[in-house]
Amino acid sequence: MKAIMYQAFGNADVLQMVELLKPAIQSGEVLIKIKALSINPMDWKIRKGEMKLMSGTKFPKYTGADFSGIVEEVGSSVPGFKKGDEVFGVVKNMMKEGASAEYIAIAASQIWKKPSNITFAQAASLPVVGTAALTAIEKMGRIDSTTTILVNGATGGFGMILLQLLKQKGAHVTAVTSSNGTAFAKRWGADMVIDYRTEEVLSRKETYDIVIDLSGKMGYADAKQVMKPDSKFLNPTPKPIEIPASLIQNLFTGKKHVIVLADPSTKYTNDLLYAVGQGLDIEIHKVFPFHAFKEAYRYAERGGYTGKVVIEQQ
Ligand SMILES: NC(=O)c1ccc[n+]([C@@H]2O[C@H](COP(=O)([O-])OP(=O)(O)OC[C@H]3O[C@@H](n4cnc5c(N)ncnc54)[C@H](OP(=O)(O)O)[C@@H]3O)[C@@H](O)[C@H]2O)c1
Repeated sequence: MKAIMYQAFGNADVLQMVELLKPAIQSGEVLIKIKALSINPMDWKIRKGEMKLMSGTKFPKYTGADFSGIVEEVGSSVPGFKKGDEVFGVVKNMMKEGASAEYIAIAASQIWKKPSNITFAQAASLPVVGTAALTAIEKMGRIDSTTTILVNGATGGFGMILLQLLKQKGAHVTAVTSSNGTAFAKRWGADMVIDYRTEEVLSRKETYDIVIDLSGKMGYADAKQVMKPDSKFLNPTPKPIEIPASLIQNLFTGKKHVIVLADPSTKYTNDLLYAVGQGLDIEIHKVFPFHAFKEAYRYAERGGYTGKVVIEQQ
């Protein structure tokens, strides 16, 4: 089978299509013919060597975390799935496996039945950003109509799901996005939209109960300017030093620095499936064919779009 792998850290030029044996499954695994995979910032952060503590420095490396496809073979101890089922899922350990391939052999605990009201591209776009959004909401604590939330970088994949889930909770959401995303932010439930290219959010007078940065460009020190004395800053893009540092910072200030690290599991997927049933909007900005993988990764990394970029296979 064909798979996309790389032998050195770098930009999308290091990605190569290689020929591998079709994977054999263990008793607790399922073999899936992949129909779609979505691109996440972590794909290029790992590839560029920005997450070496987590990724290590061994090669070759796989890429691609979340995917959808069709079950081709089921392990002897796997209940609930059969050949032909349409499923979606997420790899547990990108160091050992990747979704940028024609097939994946994966633990049955990492896949779920694809709802019939969404496409393969939409299902492949859900696990990473959906789980991250639900984890962030869990970390926010109690939210109601009096809660004011600033979402910085609101119309990428993560923001798309987060805005809609926050809307369901009735929070008052201010979304920071470029002009490309303004209409989407409103559609997904933002009460107010700020275009970061024309207005500096940190120089505004408003303060918020919760600030979450999805752009990776607003740090805790900056965010404090728009936080109330007892606000939370949620940080899903922490530098390694910030994980212990946040614990110490939180001992001395009411302005809490909260790290968000999502771990996709059934606990979150059930809530996501419920949201999909309720009509969750999953915007697919652009779909690339498998053979155009380099173009797809370059395009996704450049940014400037709303929703998700997906690679599809026949
Ligand atoms: N910790 C976890 O478990 C976890 C899980 C999932 C994702 N993440 C991280 O969360 C972040 C968001 O993920 P994503 O999938 O939504 O990424 P994404 O699709 O690349 O979205 C990032 C958003 O930030 C916006 N942005 C860029 N520069 C900005 C600026 N200066 N001010 C305000 N907004 C700006 C972009 O808008 P324009 O393109 O219009 O400029 C884009 O909408 C990524 O860094 C990702 O790695 C963490």
